[in-house]
Amino acid sequence: MTDLELMQLAAEARKMAYAPYSGFRVGAALLTSEGRVYTGCNIENAAYGPTNCAERTAFFKAVSEGERSFAAIAITGGGGEDPNTLCAPCGVCRQVMAEFCDGAFRVILGTPAAVEVHTLQDLLPLSFGKSDLA
Ligand code: THU
Repeated sequence: MTDLELMQLAAEARKMAYAPYSGFRVGAALLTSEGRVYTGCNIENAAYGPTNCAERTAFFKAVSEGERSFAAIAITGGGGEDPNTLCAPCGVCRQVMAEFCDGAFRVILGTPAAVEVHTLQDLLPLSFGKSDLA
């Protein structure tokens, strides 16, 4: 699975976004260490607060199916027909990633036309995690 292939799956998932309030549609594709892919879209709510980002939808689908080890996530989003050049994950989603992934976890941002790759360590330095509670 190449980064561009994973991004293509994120773009497909974006088509399922439920975003009647913001109009900002996001798709994510999460790759497990064993090569399985779980996709997700954002799911908004009239009360706003219960809205779930695409990244967390993908993580919660995977974790609820027993997955615990992840290699990468591709994220694409934007308000128009085509996604923006870049849609970076929100802070809450970064924290969810940190629960299940180490700093080397790859975060692939962009569109099916062009991607850039970051690590979770880059996106969430000095994070609070399970080792703090040990
Ligand atoms: N959103 C995501 O799904 N992922 C992100 O990385 C950024 C924001 C969603 C939440 C909300 O439905 C809409 O985009 C606007 O914030």
